[in-house]
Amino acid sequence: SESSELMEEVAILKGSNCRAKGAAPGFKVAVLGASGGIGQPLSLLMKMNPLVSVLHLYDVVNTPGVTADISHMNTGAVVRGFLGQPQLESALTGMDLVIIPAGIPRKPGMTRDDLFNINAGIVRTLCEGIAKCCPNAIVNVISNPVNSTVPIAAEVFKKAGTYDPKRLLGVTTLDVVRANTFVGEVLGLDPRDVNVPVVGGHAGVTILPLLSQVNPPCSFTSEEISYLTSRIQNGGTEVVEAKAGAGSATLSMAYAAAKFADACLRGLRGDAGIVECSYIASQVTELPFFASKVRLGRSGVEEVLPLGPLNEFERAGLEKAKGELAESIHKGVAFANK
Ligand code: NAD
Ligand code: LMR
Repeated sequence: SESSELMEEVAILKGSNCRAKGAAPGFKVAVLGASGGIGQPLSLLMKMNPLVSVLHLYDVVNTPGVTADISHMNTGAVVRGFLGQPQLESALTGMDLVIIPAGIPRKPGMTRDDLFNINAGIVRTLCEGIAKCCPNAIVNVISNPVNSTVPIAAEVFKKAGTYDPKRLLGVTTLDVVRANTFVGEVLGLDPRDVNVPVVGGHAGVTILPLLSQVNPPCSFTSEEISYLTSRIQNGGTEVVEAKAGAGSATLSMAYAAAKFADACLRGLRGDAGIVECSYIASQVTELPFFASKVRLGRSGVEEVLPLGPLNEFERAGLEKAKGELAESIHKGVAFANK
């Protein structure tokens, strides 16, 4: 096609005009679903991350354009585009971190679970590629329903014999980002100075903000607790309704995913004290997957931190969250094994 000829010409020109340079030190990162509402701004933010030396952009549409565009940014990472299933393996080979925002988003009136039928298959295929081409990569799953897509990914990796629970992380950072923003508003604090642990999962009542553990320590009225809990749990729906059919959170999500990916990369580099909330294989509750604070390091999740003391309201919330989570996990595992 004309566009692939153009890409080839550009590649030849680049080859003849560029002085050979050694690859910059840093990590190799792939974004799968890079042309999407999240994928594009996330790719832009990863291109700005000084820890990234190579950035692979994969999607089933539009990656030549997105790649050409982002590759003009004068930051360190070398950007390459990959289009369609036949190029998935090249996109994945050698990657240290794979971020997955591929899949359809919600429209008003839908739950995240309504996305299962389409997104489950997409995540399964992409994870089969990861197992084959970069089995040691850290994987950040954004595609919804996260409560089920992470168990699907785990089953795919188990079947391939490559599963390491330390390297599979569901991205729940947007819940923490929202919680910090909304709590900051209520307390009159800069949201950057607020840290709210959000545990459980990433859908409705499974999103459990631990308002009794906010840093800096503070107290809320019962009205504030009920307002904040509901606003945090329904943050995604708030955006879906405001976008009125044009999709769900993309920009705040790209910010959150880039923040979480940066934490994973700093962990891989060996930085100490990197703690983020994430939905992972866990023994914190009786459920096989649960979101909580984790310490990130060279091997991915190095420690799953305990939940800490919960108040009565949070204990009741935890019971509700566990009921729905158990079903979503079961649904994912059953899909991957059918
Ligand atoms: P989008 O439709 O704008 O983009 C999705 C992209 O995925 C598209 O470019 C599409 O071509 C691509 N895609 C589809 N099938 C693919 C495949 N087999 N391989 C590679 N790419 C494929 O959607 P979006 O707004 O970017 O949202 C993406 C997903 O992220 C949705 O499932 C959404 O629910 C989820 N999401 C999760 C969170 C979270 O907090 N974890 C937050 C927001 C959105
Ligand atoms: C979010 O929390 O914004 C995402 O999970 C997208 C959605 O469907 O709400």
